[in-house]
Amino acid sequence: MSDTVLTTQVAIVGGGPAGLLAAHLLDRAGIASVVVDLRTRTEIETTHRAGILEANAARLLVDSGVSDRILRDGHEHEGTYLRFGGRSHRIDFKELVGESVWLYPQTDVFIDLADARARDGGDVRFGVRDVEVLDIDTQQPRVLFTDVDGTRVEVRSAFVIGADGSRSMCRNIVPEERRTRHGREYPFAWFGLLVQTPMNAPELIYAHSDAGFALVSQRTETVQRLYFQCSPTENVDDWDDARIWERLQACLAGHDGFRLHEGPVIQKSVLPFRSFVQEPMRWGRLVLAGDAAHTVPPTGARGLNLAIHDVTILADVLPRALAARDDSVLDEYAQRALQRVWRAQNFSYWMTQMLHLPPGGESFAFDRRRQLGELENVVSTRAGRTHLAEQYTGWPSGD
Ligand code: DHB
Repeated sequence: MSDTVLTTQVAIVGGGPAGLLAAHLLDRAGIASVVVDLRTRTEIETTHRAGILEANAARLLVDSGVSDRILRDGHEHEGTYLRFGGRSHRIDFKELVGESVWLYPQTDVFIDLADARARDGGDVRFGVRDVEVLDIDTQQPRVLFTDVDGTRVEVRSAFVIGADGSRSMCRNIVPEERRTRHGREYPFAWFGLLVQTPMNAPELIYAHSDAGFALVSQRTETVQRLYFQCSPTENVDDWDDARIWERLQACLAGHDGFRLHEGPVIQKSVLPFRSFVQEPMRWGRLVLAGDAAHTVPPTGARGLNLAIHDVTILADVLPRALAARDDSVLDEYAQRALQRVWRAQNFSYWMTQMLHLPPGGESFAFDRRRQLGELENVVSTRAGRTHLAEQYTGWPSGD
């Protein structure tokens, strides 16, 4: 039973970057949508995630009219550092593949998209409850939810986009016997930090060390984003500031005397690692996008970029499916999206395995030395550096 019925063309479950970008791009193509999310806008805005956007994704935000704030507040990085054996090695993306990436936090991407939807009169409902997706195998699927004021709302649409993230409810709508879930777990996670210090380096540093992996990233002149490898079951309360800095300095120590600036830790959390893909990405009139369909470990910053790539394809395919009144047009979506999904799965897996020391185990000493050999292979030849640069910057456009 519902109190209100809304009719639209596309219902979007999930108001994170994937869902909001889908709504924005569909709007540009003249297609109406309603977006619902269980989380409040503040909850999404304060969940810290990745920070690197491919240049193509940055261009899309600007050129499609979301916002040009990234050009003012983002930082263009023309390369990155791999650090191992106590030395840093620069991978020069610009020189190797003619591309760069943008340091621009996912929270800012979200804010820009949410502001753009509000500016353009988009219907976005944050903080809703009890979302149900029904009749997905009919011509008129329905999304039911309870709005913030307690009203039970039914949205009738032609298609539903499931963009509800790594704990997706939408992906469970695909019947168990018709779906395949590929994936693997890792014996480590990242301890993610926001700290109040000046910047440590002009670009990111991915560091392999005997104390484990660490990543040095940035946010502003006075707030930095740092990560170090930890156990998936790590408890953040066991880590006071002194212990955190001791570990981070050990991960970054080297012959060049590099030291991180130290300062107060203002936020800490454990980020789980997982590689995951669910196929098919379409079921009836439901299409899955972003983390709902696939998750990558964070090493290499592919997650948000993949979600943006999915949505770009959807924004091309869905309007054609609607105009042609032909669902088979939708088959193109998964074909085009999955090719990049699996390339990114491999890249994220590769970067993760190359840079993290697996805890303990018989082959620990072998793996450690083998990883150093692998890193040497990457940095010491132009082919090795180009391979990393092509993948990190997101492959040439097309699909
Ligand atoms: C950030 C996160 C990543 O996973 C990554 O590979 C690079 C940067 C970040 O939060 O800045």
